[in-house]
Amino acid sequence: MTMIRVDPDRPSTTALAPAAERLRQGGLVAFPTETVYGLGAHALDPAAVRRIFTAKGRPSFNPLIVHVHDADAARALCAEWTREAERLAEALWPGPLTLVLPKRSVVPDVVTAGLPSVAVRVPAHPVAAELLRQAGVPVAAPSANPSNALSPTRAEHVAEGLGDRVDLIVDGGATPVGIESAVVDLSGSSPTLLRPGTVSLEQLRDLVPSLGIAAEAPVGRTPRPAPGMLPRHYAPRARLRVLDRDSLLAAVAEARSSEQRIGALLLGGDAPHVQHPVRMPPGAGAYAAELYAALHRLDALGCTLILVEAPPDRPEWAGVQDRLRRASHT
Ligand code: TXA
Ligand code: MG
Repeated sequence: MTMIRVDPDRPSTTALAPAAERLRQGGLVAFPTETVYGLGAHALDPAAVRRIFTAKGRPSFNPLIVHVHDADAARALCAEWTREAERLAEALWPGPLTLVLPKRSVVPDVVTAGLPSVAVRVPAHPVAAELLRQAGVPVAAPSANPSNALSPTRAEHVAEGLGDRVDLIVDGGATPVGIESAVVDLSGSSPTLLRPGTVSLEQLRDLVPSLGIAAEAPVGRTPRPAPGMLPRHYAPRARLRVLDRDSLLAAVAEARSSEQRIGALLLGGDAPHVQHPVRMPPGAGAYAAELYAALHRLDALGCTLILVEAPPDRPEWAGVQDRLRRASHT
């Protein structure tokens, strides 16, 4: 695996040329987006896309997001482009928003896991934007981590998780948003938010007033939950629990007697006897940007238990709450 470093704000065209070429030829290239690192392959090349599933150990029923350089390129992959799609794309692209629409036949079934719809996104990160422009082909890219593990927010996370299973990693430093894009399904009878991100529900509903929220899949009941709705996901190796401050302190006392190595993500004061406390930023955006890096670090330190002080129950925290909930499913 080769790693190339680029300036995250002004990536040079020449530096990215080998990565773009690799994508066109069917290789696997990890690259930064504003949300997390993606594991990219030529979306119209079924053999290349299959390599993504193999590298991640991803179940073939979980469809991929196709990344493109602009809204016109996204529309070219969709059989229908609704008024809602137009409004959301116009207001929020490029950015951390994915739209699901009926697919055109040019999109291979392996990308959509056989579904009649395709997920499309125009990322805002300058490196992703320039890479997509140069590649000139749509790029299928899930988060660049082994299936069910934490998403990578730095190039090192990708190298640790996937190693030589990827041909090339474009290192553009830490990703600024830090959690995955919001996914809005516009392919059904009514618009539905499948996965919250950092774009607020309020902002989305200003554009699409009828937007509903998908119910969470019942845990352990369905062997094959709806796409986007896998309950356990985005999880560290350590057991993770989200608790209010008092319960957290009680859990520390209990865990000490069973000799656990305890890490904690804290918002308020100190938590005595936690071996690896991490003070998290108080704002939802800054918290999201640091969340996965903090969890990666606690895993690397060998924590067996990660206690997370529950963030405020406010709308701007919906994306973070969702990821913490999924990470705490056992
Ligand atoms: O921020 C992101 O979205 C990152 C970066 C790399 O763009 N990508 C990402 O991909 O998080 P992934 O594969 O980890 O998550 C994609 C989500 C999955 O929950 C998948 O089930 C859902 O999008 N999805 C993809 N295609 C879909 C479709 N046709 N219908 C419904 N859900 C779909
Ligand atoms: Mg993922």
